[in-house]
Formats: sequence, C-alpha cells, structure tokens
Amino acid sequence: KHVAVLISGSGTNLQALINECAKPGSSAEIRVVISNKPNVKGLQRAFDAGIPSIVVQNRKYSSREKFDNAISEILEEFQIDTICLAGFMRILSGGFVNRWRGRILNVHPSLLPSFKGANAHKLVLSAGVRISGCSVHFVEEEVDSGAIICQESVPVYSDDTEESLAARVKEVEHRAFPKALQLVTSGKVTLDLENNKIIWK
Ligand code: GRF
Repeated sequence: KHVAVLISGSGTNLQALINECAKPGSSAEIRVVISNKPNVKGLQRAFDAGIPSIVVQNRKYSSREKFDNAISEILEEFQIDTICLAGFMRILSGGFVNRWRGRILNVHPSLLPSFKGANAHKLVLSAGVRISGCSVHFVEEEVDSGAIICQESVPVYSDDTEESLAARVKEVEHRAFPKALQLVTSGKVTLDLENNKIIWK
C-alpha cells in the first residue's frame, strides 16, 4: 500500500516508519512526506531515505479547508492509500477526515481515551497517574477520539518531567506506530465505518 506521512517536526516517528517499511515483506511503502513547517528535521530524514517531501505551509492558506484540499491533491497525485499523522500538529477539517476516513492513522502520546489534546504529558503529570503510554488510532473529526488500533504502556516516575516522560513514551510510539501501520496496510485491521469500531481479520 502507498503511504503518506504528515509531520510538523523532528520526525522520530517518521524515522520509525521509514525503518519498518524498509524491512522485507513490509506491506507499506512510504511514497511522500508532507510537512506544514519548512526546515524541520523530519524533512531531512525523508531526504536521507530517498523519499520525496513537500512543504505545505498552513499559514499560506486563507482557510483550513483550502489547506486540507492542497494536501488532498498531493495524496491523490501520489495515489496514497494510507495516511500517517506522525507529530502533525494541525487539526484536519471534517471534510478531509471524512474523505479519507478509515485510512488515516494518528499516534497520540497517552493511553486514550484519557488525556486527549496537545499537552498530554502535562495532563498526565498533573493527574498523578502512574502509568501512561501511547495510542495509535484511526482519525475521526473529533480530535483523538477514533477507534484504537494498538497501545503500549510506560511507567510514570515520581521525578518525571514532561520531557523525561515524553522521551519514554516516544520509545514505545516507535514500536506501536509501525506495528499499527502494518496491521492496516496488510488488511488485518480495518475500520467499521458505521460503528466506529476496529474489525480484526
Ligand atoms: C509524538 O510524541 C506524537 O505522539 C506527538 O508529537 C510527537 C511527535 O514526535 N503527537 P516526532 O516528530 O515523531 O519526533
């Protein structure tokens, strides 16, 4: 299957996906990397792997829909089947999500449905929970609410900072995201569009 990875930053998850797709027998092939920010490290990672990358700067579009349409056009052009949001820090419009529904995966740095949103680690630390982790899920219009494909947990230590917790969670993201991608591109996991539930084959 043809995969696009959308990023906004360092792209360590992108790197994990690149490494996974390079393995023999991978059912996923990354065709294009799209970043909404120029000059981020993830773009260099794409370049080093010989994957084409395109910068689509949201601030150059007058509306979210126009920005999302520009991304959709690229996805069509590269005949993309599956989209991975790997640290992509823009919320996609309902139109975009519904057009690609069941084919967009996101990695979130908490055990969903707890601690949704952009500052998950901060919420985890202030809630005082002793276990956190990551979730890879299908993307729905409502942020961080889609059906969960896989999760991995990590301990939260009493002296953790947002940074130390983020680093520990990223290690498991780098295992969970490639695994979830293979589950979807191999056809083992699909989204039941009517019930918003995972179907396992
Ligand atoms: C990850 O922790 C992801 O869960 C969050 O943003 C971070 C992206 O990191 N949404 P990277 O760009 O993949 O290194």
